[in-house]
Amino acid sequence: MASKKPARAHALATLLLHAGAEAHAAGDPVVTPLVQSVNYVQDPGSDDLMYTRYGNTPNAMRVQKRIAALEGAEEALVLSSGMGATACGLLALLRPGDHLLASQFLYGGTHRLLTEEFPQMGIDVTLVEPFEPRAWRRRLRRETRAIFIESPVNPTCRVLDMRGVSLLTKELGIALVVDSTFASPVNFRPLEHGADVVIHSATKYLNGHHDVLGGVVCGTAPYIDEVRQKEIVWGQTPDPFACWLLERGLKTLDVRVKRQNESAQVIAEWLEGRKEVRRCHYPGLPSHSDHAIAVDQLDGFGGMLSFELAGGARAADRFAKRLKMVRYAASLGGVDSLVSEPRFSSHARLTSDERARIGIPDGFIRFSVGLEDVNDIIADLEQALR
Ligand SMILES: Cc1ncc(COP(=O)(O)O)c(C=O)c1O
Repeated sequence: MASKKPARAHALATLLLHAGAEAHAAGDPVVTPLVQSVNYVQDPGSDDLMYTRYGNTPNAMRVQKRIAALEGAEEALVLSSGMGATACGLLALLRPGDHLLASQFLYGGTHRLLTEEFPQMGIDVTLVEPFEPRAWRRRLRRETRAIFIESPVNPTCRVLDMRGVSLLTKELGIALVVDSTFASPVNFRPLEHGADVVIHSATKYLNGHHDVLGGVVCGTAPYIDEVRQKEIVWGQTPDPFACWLLERGLKTLDVRVKRQNESAQVIAEWLEGRKEVRRCHYPGLPSHSDHAIAVDQLDGFGGMLSFELAGGARAADRFAKRLKMVRYAASLGGVDSLVSEPRFSSHARLTSDERARIGIPDGFIRFSVGLEDVNDIIADLEQALR
């Protein structure tokens, strides 16, 4: 796949280790020290207050600078979860009476936030089928302040074309907000494609070790300052140890994601040839409906894939029980291979028919490819499918 390299001082693999770090001197620790303090001594009367909930403590500042460099953003803010990032990121843009357009293909928690919580705050949300021609323009209102998309989509791995929607948001002067959790900055950097705000669940690829809950919002400095005000009053700031673990996890993001891209491609091709599998969804497969967009837009097709078992829910029950090495667990994007079923997790609040309508029929398995040897992963899948 052709690399679309941005104009940056250093390559991403280098930024992951060094961006935001000060010049070093003899005696400095190579690893950023963990400063597990909530508060800091101040000069009486000064306003340089450092307090963990303000997001301005040493471990938070270090990892925020690093993530901003990865996304090519002026600033980044680390929050205590991906949901905290989405909530504070959008509340910094929207006021009562405003209207938000959002893709209908969203992580279940985000769907709930937009359709159940925001209306109670006087923020109207319209969900849009983003693959319909002129979908966004047709649903615009005078009060529309932002467009929110998730790409690639959890759990169907659909890839949204950024071109049309970013031209529209630029024309109208409204914000384009992208949840880029599935891609990570290794595979996709939305700001290079016309987005104004990037959101991540850092719980997933950015940390990558299944041991930190976190979220990130990236954008301009004045906007991030607004998000910080939301973070402070809604109490969405992470603990210093979470920031420290996130910084540690980030160091290997490039090697992890590239390996996961490679393994996912091999596994997807293998799954596509199995009679037990009705359909495999992976943007790297030519059969995927958004393959052309993915080739054009992404630097890698990702470590997430999903597949539909021909035997439906009962086949999924059997498959899940038989897995030996790959584990059945929520979340994604880490070093261990994990499977889950949206019918019991992210989309449990929808009926079976509602899920089928958005492309998640019963028997649908989401697979987060880990760092195990790809042949061992396939061997486990094979014995569970047989
Ligand atoms: C695409 C996407 N966005 C946001 C979130 C929410 O992240 P968190 O669980 O860190 O709050 C998730 C969680 O699975 C997700 O998959």
